[in-house]
Amino acid sequence: MSAYLVTGGAGFIGSHLVRTLVGQGKTVKVLDNFSTGKESNLESVSGSVEVIRGDVRSSEEVERALSGVSYVFHQAAVGSVPRSIADPFDTQTANVNGTLNLLWKSREMGVRRVVIAGSSSVYGDTPGMPRVETLIPSPLSPYALSKLSQELMGKIFTKTYGLETVTLRYFNIFGPYQDPNSEYAAVIPRFIKAILTGQPITVYGSGEQSRDFTFIDNVVSANLLAMETTQGVGEACNVGCGDSYSILDLIRTLSEIMGVRAEVSHLPPRAGDPMASQADISKARALLGYSPKVFFREGLEQTVAWFTGKFRAAGQNGL
Ligand SMILES: NC(=O)c1ccc[n+]([C@@H]2O[C@H](COP(=O)([O-])OP(=O)(O)OC[C@H]3O[C@@H](n4cnc5c(N)ncnc54)[C@H](O)[C@@H]3O)[C@@H](O)[C@H]2O)c1
Repeated sequence: MSAYLVTGGAGFIGSHLVRTLVGQGKTVKVLDNFSTGKESNLESVSGSVEVIRGDVRSSEEVERALSGVSYVFHQAAVGSVPRSIADPFDTQTANVNGTLNLLWKSREMGVRRVVIAGSSSVYGDTPGMPRVETLIPSPLSPYALSKLSQELMGKIFTKTYGLETVTLRYFNIFGPYQDPNSEYAAVIPRFIKAILTGQPITVYGSGEQSRDFTFIDNVVSANLLAMETTQGVGEACNVGCGDSYSILDLIRTLSEIMGVRAEVSHLPPRAGDPMASQADISKARALLGYSPKVFFREGLEQTVAWFTGKFRAAGQNGL
């Protein structure tokens, strides 16, 4: 039976894909260097998954990971705007050279399709909202540039080398298993952790900046559809909900769900962060048959319940 490889499978999004594929009875391999990924993210499927501790930049490790594999979900990346601003070199080599290495080896080893995790950050400060794929990208950070390189490389591998690829431009994904702890943690797990531990919430800028916060289940379904599509090959499609909520909306909703009045402190805005981001998802609807099923409030309720369960079981150490 043809196996699936999830690069970055020990990370937030990758581990959701792994659990779903295992649940469907698929043979699954993971390639991860555990730079941000965790073994505990794969605890529930340990024993059902072959985990290769390795780097997408290494030809030998990628070759080992691809052996027997027909389908690849490429999630591995250094995934943070501020991290890329602090260290553009690691972002560039992991995301760009790593993707080139993976695509090159995939073609050599007869992989049928690679679905690439792209990013809404490629739009940067280009005019036009909601974001539609025909807009000219205007990245604001080395991270955003690396995600644009990944998807263009995917396109080139489809058109020029004949390897099927599809890129999904993710819009602010959130859900269980997202890391709340790193200095570069995403806003939703960071806020939930602050509330659970009685700390003030730190907001960069006014909090009026808005995002199309997208619950993880929608992203998993978009990935599975992208692996099947006949029309979307060689394309990049937005994956979001088509909604727009500000950081202040987010704090209000979390406060309601968690039954607290969160204390908020403000820091100056962060470089590389666009003011607004909202997806037009018509292309993903048309080419992939994608439609989001879990929206902002329900997604937040599920996420809060998951983090609260971990916190109750093990206190702050559980988060
Ligand atoms: N979370 C979001 O909102 C979001 C938005 C847009 C795009 N993305 C993209 O989705 C993908 C997954 O992101 P995530 O949020 O799950 O982040 P994550 O940090 O939880 O997962 C990334 C995984 O890749 C692994 N990794 C990093 N560099 C590697 C390398 N060189 N070789 C092998 N493994 C490596 C990490 O250890 C980690 O397990 C990334 O490509 C990211 O750029 C995420």
